[in-house]
Amino acid sequence: MEFKIKSGDLAKAKTPCLILGVFDKRKLSDPAQEIDKASDGALSKLLAKGDLDGGGCGCLVAYDVPGVCAERVMLVGCGKRKELNRAAYGKALGSVLARLAELRITEALCALADLPSGMDQYQAIRHGVLQAAYSAYRYVRTKEPAKDAPPPIEELAFWVPKKQNSATAARAATHGKAIAAGVALARELGNLPGNICTPAYLAEQAVSLGKRFDKLGVEILEESDMEQLGMGALLSVSRGSRQPAKLIVMRYNGAAKDAKPVVLVGKGLTFDAGGISIKPAAEMDEMKYDMCGGASVLGSMLAAAEMDLPLNVVGVVPASENLPDGAANKPGDIVTSMSGQTIEILNTDAEGRLILCDALTYSERFEPELVVDMATLTGACIVGLGRHPSGLFTPDDNLAREIAELGEAAADRVWRLPLWDDYQSQLDSNFADMANIGGRDGGAITAAAFLSRFTKAYPWAHLDIAGTAWVTGKDKGATGRPVALLSELLIRRSGTPQ
Ligand code: BES
Ligand code: MN
Ligand code: ZN
Repeated sequence: MEFKIKSGDLAKAKTPCLILGVFDKRKLSDPAQEIDKASDGALSKLLAKGDLDGGGCGCLVAYDVPGVCAERVMLVGCGKRKELNRAAYGKALGSVLARLAELRITEALCALADLPSGMDQYQAIRHGVLQAAYSAYRYVRTKEPAKDAPPPIEELAFWVPKKQNSATAARAATHGKAIAAGVALARELGNLPGNICTPAYLAEQAVSLGKRFDKLGVEILEESDMEQLGMGALLSVSRGSRQPAKLIVMRYNGAAKDAKPVVLVGKGLTFDAGGISIKPAAEMDEMKYDMCGGASVLGSMLAAAEMDLPLNVVGVVPASENLPDGAANKPGDIVTSMSGQTIEILNTDAEGRLILCDALTYSERFEPELVVDMATLTGACIVGLGRHPSGLFTPDDNLAREIAELGEAAADRVWRLPLWDDYQSQLDSNFADMANIGGRDGGAITAAAFLSRFTKAYPWAHLDIAGTAWVTGKDKGATGRPVALLSELLIRRSGTPQ
């Protein structure tokens, strides 16, 4: 899919479809006014017929507009001008994309030039690119697309008024495309079934990403390596599976060798049956998405490499299955983590924290500037926050503010939950340094509290993406979240202008 930036005389622009915004009470946006003038009031006349008043988000398509080179003009309702915010802008883009698909148009020029409140030109264009690319994604690996399925959009151009900075617009398109590639990779990996997307498959994908970029090195640690490192918690989970665990380590070197890296750690549980504490059958298929934290690491490394960001990033993905088996963890088993702390496994379904804790201890060796881990960690996070924000946990108030703000900017929001010491006693065990579950109360928080015991050596934040990495129900599938948020973090931390 191609994205372009165009400026100049809109009426002379050659395109199969020119997209223009109309506000409430048929108020034309600036670019729409320009076309109205060029066409001797054709748009005003059309709107006067009353089929579109601009208050909602419907679309109206006009053909053969006089004085205009575009084959057709699509007018889209954007609501009240004063209320145009990111959500309204996204809604308008959504109805444009749906209408383009209906009409099977694969090339368009978008001139919704009015900036939504809280967004600058860079953000508006990048958001548009991401949304268009998101809608163009098709899962085809194990299913032929329907014969009459609408073709994905191939080329989208964004029009910017001459006086605006087209270098910024071009950068927005480049960044958007890179982030969209990361999102698509994360979605594809999340959608693949557990019998294809195994720990070894995830590792292969990481290796082939490494081959695509000079600055990206990839190393795969095998179970024997993990044994040597003393990763007893991670290995205890994979013991119940015939698929060997992999620890994927990706290093993107975009800055000086000695510059401290941002480390991204992602849960790569390629299928979670729960183990001996087996899950109920209903919707268990969805537990193939339990590797979406890991997939978001691969996606973000891809985005960083595509953008050629000047910073160092390390991606660490512990990859394993969680299945019941004669060798699997049993409730009551006690394992020793790489940190030396012992863990009593009271529920084998709380396996994410077991594979993550060793990956987090391992991450100390990179002397990180910051570690962020992403995990589909708890159903409790979905109960508490629903499926709109990811759960954010960190002991560091400044970091919490920073990440919350990045989430707003990237349209990939988070909401902070507490991580007070008050919760720690829920993890007390009579037989080990800690238990792997903290009871029914505050399940997302006690999971984060567990992880916090392994992250004392560096600034750290944890994202529980159980509710955001996946859409459940009829349209089920992976979302690619939080690749956009992580990409935003990497762009900002690298000091790259936006
Ligand atoms: N992968 C699940 C969490 C999950 C649940 C993700 C639903 C997405 C949707 C995790 O491994 C798990 O099983 N967590 C348990 C923890 C409990 C045993 C303390 C849970 O949330 O029920
Ligand atoms: Mn589980
Ligand atoms: Zn899990």
